[in-house]
Amino acid sequence: MALSYAGDIRPLFREMDVEEMKMNGPFDLSQYDDVKKRASDIFQRLSDGDMPCDAAWSADNVRKFKDWMEGGMNP
Ligand code: HEM
Repeated sequence: MALSYAGDIRPLFREMDVEEMKMNGPFDLSQYDDVKKRASDIFQRLSDGDMPCDAAWSADNVRKFKDWMEGGMNP
């Protein structure tokens, strides 16, 4: 089944991520449209291990984000 923002991607963002990025982005990781629009920036930071600022995502989760992008960024 294709990956979706609501089912697969949104749960990877902690409340802290959402709050910090509203202040620093500014964009809202809890909003599908924002994540879709900024997906390549977000992917770059995740794969560099640059974001989240406190602990990099696992390779599996970074790959999941990439698969979601390549699968057409379903809501
Ligand atoms: C999965 C979680 C996160 C993602 C995907 C993410 C993504 C990003 C992206 C794409 C930018 C660049 C924004 C731009 O240039 O317009 C950014 C900047 C920034 N983020 Fe995050 N972020 C996350 C979590 C966090 C957390 C937890 C913190 C701090 C506690 C944080 C602090 C910052 C700060 C200070 C900046 C501005 C400075 C910079 O560009 O490095 N982020 N983030």
